[in-house]
Amino acid sequence: MPTIYIVGAGCGDPGLITVKGKEILDRANVLIYAGSLVNPELVDACPAAEKYDSWGMRLAEMTDIMIAAAQSGKTVVRLHSGDPALYGAIIEQVVILKEAGIDVERVPGVSSFFGAAASLGIQYTLKGVSESVIITRPAGKTLDEDQIAEFSGLGQTMVVFLGTEQLEKIVEKLQCPRETPAAVIYHATWPDEKIVRGTVADIAQKARAAGIEKTALIIIGEVVNPDGPSYTNSHLYG
Ligand SMILES: C[S@@+](CC[C@H](N)C(=O)[O-])C[C@H]1O[C@@H](n2cnc3c(N)ncnc32)[C@H](O)[C@@H]1O
Repeated sequence: MPTIYIVGAGCGDPGLITVKGKEILDRANVLIYAGSLVNPELVDACPAAEKYDSWGMRLAEMTDIMIAAAQSGKTVVRLHSGDPALYGAIIEQVVILKEAGIDVERVPGVSSFFGAAASLGIQYTLKGVSESVIITRPAGKTLDEDQIAEFSGLGQTMVVFLGTEQLEKIVEKLQCPRETPAAVIYHATWPDEKIVRGTVADIAQKARAAGIEKTALIIIGEVVNPDGPSYTNSHLYG
């Protein structure tokens, strides 16, 4: 059965694709990639492949190309930003490919969720501070309702994807204290990465003043406290 590879490119730094992902990418004859978020260095590193930027392509257009290429014995790679399992819209592709008798192998990548933590120098879960992380997104053009208000009252770390354009609206919805630490990170792990730290009260205004308008994560909770949250040591260390 022909196989198509869905590969996570990592969130920016080209070193954040996995060894397995890069090995598959090096063999690609056909490459469909998320042009706005995948580092061009990864795309340029496979000059022999037939390439398609998925921006603006319709689902059927993409899957038709993938199916025809896989059926003719070509190695087909669909390169997603970060890790495909977070806001990657891959299920729709997988269903069509499977119906066409094509197997799909997924290869994870380093999500911006993890790239951001590394750049901020934080740990999302900290004993005595936050045992859980909520990953969510705001309502907007492609989502009718969100649960940001309810989640923000739980006192846990919250990471908001796909929300930069609506930063002000998101902050208004939050039910945690206004002095709760918050950070916005644009293009985590890219050379033009920007980090802004503040509180729920001022983070939107600070991020805009820094020119951040898109492709950022909003992180809310004590774990981003620049003075260091008061955690207790993990049991791992006795
Ligand atoms: C369609 S989602 C894809 C997420 C991706 N699958 C991941 O694991 O990072 C796109 C959103 O992810 C976030 N994002 C992706 N790459 C980012 C980066 N390098 N830095 C900050 N946020 C990023 C932004 O919120 C952006 O609007």
